[in-house]
Amino acid sequence: MTDVIPSGPTFFLDGKEVPFQASETILQAATRAHRYIPHLCWHPDFPAHGSCRLCSVKVNGQTAAACTVRAAPDLVIESDTEELNGQRKRLLQMLFIEGNHFCPSCEKSGNCLLQATAYQMGMLGPHFEEFYPDRPVDASHPDILLDFNRCILCELCVKASRNVDGKNVFAIGGHGIASHLLVNSESGKLADTSMALADRAANICPVGVILPKRRGFAIPIGQRRFDDKSVAEQAQGDTS
Ligand code: SF4
Ligand code: FES
Repeated sequence: MTDVIPSGPTFFLDGKEVPFQASETILQAATRAHRYIPHLCWHPDFPAHGSCRLCSVKVNGQTAAACTVRAAPDLVIESDTEELNGQRKRLLQMLFIEGNHFCPSCEKSGNCLLQATAYQMGMLGPHFEEFYPDRPVDASHPDILLDFNRCILCELCVKASRNVDGKNVFAIGGHGIASHLLVNSESGKLADTSMALADRAANICPVGVILPKRRGFAIPIGQRRFDDKSVAEQAQGDTS
């Protein structure tokens, strides 16, 4: 790919110039420029949540979340460093041990952003002792299964249901380590909401919590989104 000399304002990301537009965050501008900054809770269609901290970078030497900090001219940003990637690996390991993530048996394996990012950061094992929390699944809905064991609390389903579907099906309850995903119905069951398979909220989860029923493994392992190209290669627009 030939480097195009940017004409507007730019910042430096790992030594390379990245152009940005007014009001863009560092992560938005980097993504538009096909530069990969690891992230989990950010989605281009929704306001940043800033909770997972995977996107933490050094901005002029200070740690900041790339998904929430506005781009500004001549910022010097470090992201792909041994120190930051090491911190990301620890965060990922904590996410894995806090929930029940058994990739080989998960329908989302190969399509999961958590799994793909863990591979990208060179995570080979959990490092910490697993919590193995007891989180029963909700299979009450005729078309959708909820497996709470894999929730990383990104809030994308909460925003998608509220802002796009206009239904407010999900919420996050509790605080700190006790935070958890809730279904907004009197029974707490998905069947008692108006959620439908075509809802944006049913198709936004970056991990394997919100799954359509009767469609398991329709795309075989080996042919899934991250099986061929890593999450970084996809962000970089690698079409080789
Ligand atoms: Fe995020 Fe999925 Fe959990 Fe919703 S269910 S908060 S989309 S991980
Ligand atoms: Fe920035 Fe999650 S992507 S904090």
